[in-house]
This record gives sequence, structure tokens and C-alpha cells, in this order.
Amino acid sequence: MKKFVEILPDKSALVQRSLELVLTKINTALATRGKCTIALAGGSTPKPIYEALADRSLPWQQIQVFWGDERYVAAEHADSNQKMARQAWLDKVDIPAANVHPMPTGAKNPQLDAQNYEQEIRQYFQISESDFPIFDVILLGMGDDGHTASLFPHTEALKVQDSLVTVGNKDGQPRLTFTAPLINHARCVIFLVAGENKRPALKQVFATQADAETYPARLIQPQNELWWLLDSSAGVEIKEQMAS
Ligand code: 6PG
Repeated sequence: MKKFVEILPDKSALVQRSLELVLTKINTALATRGKCTIALAGGSTPKPIYEALADRSLPWQQIQVFWGDERYVAAEHADSNQKMARQAWLDKVDIPAANVHPMPTGAKNPQLDAQNYEQEIRQYFQISESDFPIFDVILLGMGDDGHTASLFPHTEALKVQDSLVTVGNKDGQPRLTFTAPLINHARCVIFLVAGENKRPALKQVFATQADAETYPARLIQPQNELWWLLDSSAGVEIKEQMAS
């Protein structure tokens, strides 16, 4: 694993640097393999990056968009990660509908929807039941409790090793989420973290010793590239930790 940590002076610098890195990784995938598979993070941090991507002219027909997690709500619900990314970006660019792969939440059965999404991923990547697909880019956020995607502390989802997609649990509310092993197979995983409220969890995630069940972002140890893009509000102590 190659790990990169960058601490940007403020949120807007974080957005700019994140956009630049995402574009670099998309263009590398396009140049190398003629296509790019990217999985999106939800929450609020990535929204300005998605808005900036909407202003770029990219070969959208060669780009496949998935989600790394989703709240178990309808696509038009205010909490939907799909809705946020469509409004900020995907509805503004000429990307074929077939290239956009939202997590299904309509079966009234999170486990069934998770299985269906897993099959959709396997189908796209043309892989067998035992293989893991290699996404070109997976974007992640981190909660102030150290969760990432919908891998929440001390939940069953953290233990899932043999599936691509599973059911996460946030305070009893179901979510769909990529599993840690799926994320760890990616060519490039990029964490986007901003805000002072993330500082305590970041310290634990970066600590030499800490419990991954308590701070699930520690589970993300991709075999290829791991990027942490932080604003200084979130990352100031990490900078000190790295300097020491
Ligand atoms: C979600 C996300 C989640 C998010 C973190 C950080 O569905 O909410 O995927 O993992 O990335 O909670 O959220 P913020 O970016 O809003 O701080």
C-alpha cells in the first residue's frame, strides 16, 4: 500500500485539491484502460467536489459511477446520497443512464437490495462469486465517530469479508455499504475529511494502536493507493503526529 496524506489550509483548498486528484485518477484510468469506475461517498463533504466535476468536460460515456454506501431511503428522499450526487453533478452532465449505478433501496428488504447491488457490480465487472472487482477510484468520507461508508463502529458489517455489499447499521437505521475488503481492492481510495469535529477520530485512525471496531476507518488499508485529503481543521494534529 502506498499512503499519501495531504493537509490543506482550508475547505476550499481541500475541494480544489480533491478535484485535481480525482481528475488525475479518472484520466489515468481512461488513458490506461479506456474506462473508469468510480464509487462515490455520501454525506456533505464531497458535494462541492461533485459540483466542480459537473463543470468538467470528460468522456462521460467511458465513466461508470457507483456508490460506496446509501441510506435506506427512496432515491428522491432528502437524505439520499444518490439524490445529492445527481443534483450536484450527474444530472448536469451527458453521462449515459446505464453508466450510473445507484444502490437500490426499493425492495423494502436491505439484505435483498444489498445482494442485488452486489450482482450488478459482478455483472458489470464480469467477475465470479469469489472474486473482488478493482474499482479505479473509491471516494470516502469519515464520520466524527471514525465510521466510513456505512461501516459503523461495533456493527456486523465490519466483519463481512466474503461479500462486496452488505447492510450497515446507523443507530438501528439500515444502510447499504461496500464492505472493507471490496474497498481495499481498489486501485485508489481517497478519504475527504474536513472539520474540527473529525479531529479526535482522525487521531485514533492514524494512531499506531487503536481498535478498528471502534474506529472502522482503520479497516481501510487498500492494497494499492490510499489518500487522505484533510483540511487543517481536521488534520492539524495529524500534521504534528507525522512531524514527530
Ligand atoms: C454517508 C457517508 C458517510 C459520510 C461520513 C462523513 O452516507 O453519510 O457515506 O460515510 O462520508 O458520515 O459525512 P460528512 O462528509 O457529511 O461529514
